[in-house]
Parts: sequence; C-alpha cells; structure tokens
Amino acid sequence: MKMWSGRFRQPLDPDFERWQRSFSFDRRLLKCELLASNAHARALKAAGILSSDELISILRGLRQIGEKAAESPAFLDDDEAEDVHHFVEKQLVTLIGETGYKLHSGRSRNEQIATDLRLYVRATIDQLRQELAELCSVLADRAEQAADAAMPAYTHLQRAEPVLLGHWLLAYVEMFLRDAERLADCRKRLNVCPLGSGAVAGATLPLDRGLMADTLGFDGATANSIDATSDRDFVIEFVNALSLLALHLSRWAEEMILFSSQEYSFVILPEAYSTGSSAMPQKKNPDLLELVRGKSGRILGNATALMVAVKGLPLAYNKDLQETQEPLFDSSDTLLQMLPLVAGWMKAVDFNRERMLQAAQTGFMNAWAGATYLVKRGVPSRLAHERIGKAVQMCVERNCELQDLPLDELRSLSPAFDQDFYESLNLASVLAVHDVPGGTAPSRVRNAISITRKKIESLREEAHAHA
Ligand code: ARG
Repeated sequence: MKMWSGRFRQPLDPDFERWQRSFSFDRRLLKCELLASNAHARALKAAGILSSDELISILRGLRQIGEKAAESPAFLDDDEAEDVHHFVEKQLVTLIGETGYKLHSGRSRNEQIATDLRLYVRATIDQLRQELAELCSVLADRAEQAADAAMPAYTHLQRAEPVLLGHWLLAYVEMFLRDAERLADCRKRLNVCPLGSGAVAGATLPLDRGLMADTLGFDGATANSIDATSDRDFVIEFVNALSLLALHLSRWAEEMILFSSQEYSFVILPEAYSTGSSAMPQKKNPDLLELVRGKSGRILGNATALMVAVKGLPLAYNKDLQETQEPLFDSSDTLLQMLPLVAGWMKAVDFNRERMLQAAQTGFMNAWAGATYLVKRGVPSRLAHERIGKAVQMCVERNCELQDLPLDELRSLSPAFDQDFYESLNLASVLAVHDVPGGTAPSRVRNAISITRKKIESLREEAHAHA
C-alpha cells in the first residue's frame, strides 16, 4: 500500500512514479531509519498508543529487517518502495501484520528523513575523522623518518628558503587536523533530534521528545518543528567542510605531481599507485594524484549543488530537499575511499633526498640568513637587505653562489662582513636561524613532531570513542 493513496482517484503516471522515488539512493539510510523508528516506537508506547505486546512485535520486526538486509543485499530489491520509509513500513507489515501500520502514528516522513540524515552525517563524520587520524599519523611518521633531510621551500613557486622535509610534511598535517576539527564542530551542531517535529507543526501525539533524543544519542531535541523539518544546514556545512578537505588534498596532489616530474625529481612515484602509458613505454604516471585533484572538483561541485538546491526554498519541507541526498552521499563516499589511498601513497612514496638537498643549497636560498648576519652586527635591516641584494646581483653576473664571493669584495659592500659570514651561509646555519616555535630549525621541528603526535592521538581516541 502507498503511504498516501486514500485521497487519490487515479493512479500515478508510471514514469513519474518511478522518477520521483528515492529508494535507489536512500536505501543506504536503512540502518538510520531503523534506529529512528525504534526510538519512535518506544515513545509511542510511553504515550500509550502502543501496548507492550505491540511494541515488542514492532521492535522485533525492525530488528529482523536489519538482519535480512545484512544477510542479503537482494532483500532491498523492491520495485514498489517509494523511499526507505515506505520500504520499512512495507516490510514491517509483511513480517508482523497490520500492527506494522501503527508505527507511523503521529509522525511524518519529513521528520524521519531529517533525523536519518543527521544520524548518517554524524556516523560519517566519525569515520572520516578516523581516516584523517590515520593519514596524519603516516605523514608524521614520514616527517620523523626524514630527520634532518632538507628541501627548498617555495614562494611564488620560486626557491625561497631551505626547510626540513619534515617541516613541509607537517604543513599538510596541520591542514588535515583543522579539517578534522571542522568536522567535529559540525558534529556538535548537528547532534539534535528532529523526531517529534511531525510534518511541520509538531507531532500530533504527546511524544516524549527527550526520550527519543536520548535513545538515539542526540544531545537534545530540536527547538522548532518548522525549522527541524526543513533544515539542511548541517548537510551543507558538512559538505562544505568536505570541500575544504578536498581542496587541501588537491593542493597536496598538485604539489606531489610537480615534485614527481623529471624537472623537480624530488619524489619517486610509487609503482603500486601509478600506471603506464599504452603508447609510450617509458611512462610512469601519477594517476592517484591526478584523480585526487580531479575528484576534488566534483566534491566542490556537490557543495554548490546543495546550496543552490536549498537557496530560495520557502519553509518548510519541499520535495526539492530529496535532492540534497545524492551530492551528500557522493562527497562522503568519494572522500572515504580517497583518504586511505592517500595514506597508502604517502607510506609508499620515496623522496629523492640528494636532489632535494642539492636544490636546498643553491639558488641563493641563504640570502635572508645572510642579511640576518648583518642585522645581528647592527646593520639596519633595510640596508642589510640591500647589501645582500647587491651581492646576489654580483653572483648572478658571475654565475656563482653567495659563499663563493671573496671577503674583500663583500667588505667593499659593507664593513660588517667578516670571515664567519661564510658559516652563516651553510645549510645547517640557515636552518638553525629559524629558531622560533613553528619554524624549521631542526629542534623546533622535532618538537613539532611530538606535539603533532599528541594531537593525532587525541583525534584518534575521540573518533574511536564515538564510533
Ligand atoms: N524521500 C523523501 C525525501 O528524501 C522523504 C520525505 C518525503 N516527504 C514528503 N512530504 N513527501 O525528502
């Protein structure tokens, strides 16, 4: 039986009937739907609508539906189910008879879908946070293994200053930890229960909303039934947080693609995550990285699709809201699959340390440290900058590095230059001079690794505690 056929004299156009269904994609909400129905049934019993026997039989039916779905995916092949709510009602009636129809007392699918989606996003956040903890911990391992290996850092994609390889890897950890935090923040806000909101004006039966919220692990009940049944902010917020995560992954991928090109040769692509060319026998292509970069476009697109779908919708529930599901599922599936692969790639990649080291020691990346030498000897910073700039110009003309200039020539630029200037230019000194929290001096990076490890550990614990 349809959930709403009484008022209709004519059957639906069959093409329209199929077209408007959502069961092909909302079936994945079955678990959430069963949990929410379980909570609703208990509230119906507490309100005196269901007898104890009826409650027991409904709860048993709901449990059996979950078991059957877990046993065989074919159980969900139902050509008549309009959506997951209809599917559960149909199956329940098949299993326990007409008592099954009592489950819908006092409730609306509008509050159900709002609840199911909150449960779904909440669980997905917990999973994603676990995956982020794994990825961060691989990056931290690599940072630790890198020890004192150095590389150039770029600004404007021009060589800027040398940094530790570990320092660069930790930059990505920071982004991913912020992503994890954003997800936790989104979780906090979404963790309220719409059950009892009815279709728009609130349930028509005196249901204990606190009881339902508790049963489902929510922090409380939503405050306004009109808002609760039409609000998809939490979906939009979640998918936007995912967009930022995807954007970080895309920057990471782009940088790794650049660094793996022959022109850089900093990174040796792991064969297990690369493919060849059907035409050019020599090729090893960075497919994983390219797909990460490409898929991030689609994740950003999903966030836009969601915002546009909701923009301009009058209150409260409108069927347009059914369209918020697929972009949500697509973004979360895409990232849940992607994150472990990115972690695998990071574990397998080799860094060409010699190449990086060589690049870290050329291209005047010690110029600022050189100017700092003068500043420490009392030369005003602007003048020191200018003097070193002149020295660089001399080097460019002679095709040499700063440390190759003889002392007497340097002295002609400034009397503050002395023999120990050359020491201030070597890689170890240049790294060491960045001796501030958050800087690349080796002791600071070692400290950062241990602080980062603690953050990752607490992320992991929190995510596991929820899941
Ligand atoms: N499948 C619907 C959705 O995803 C469920 C809610 C239907 N409500 C309604 N009034 N037709 O939005």
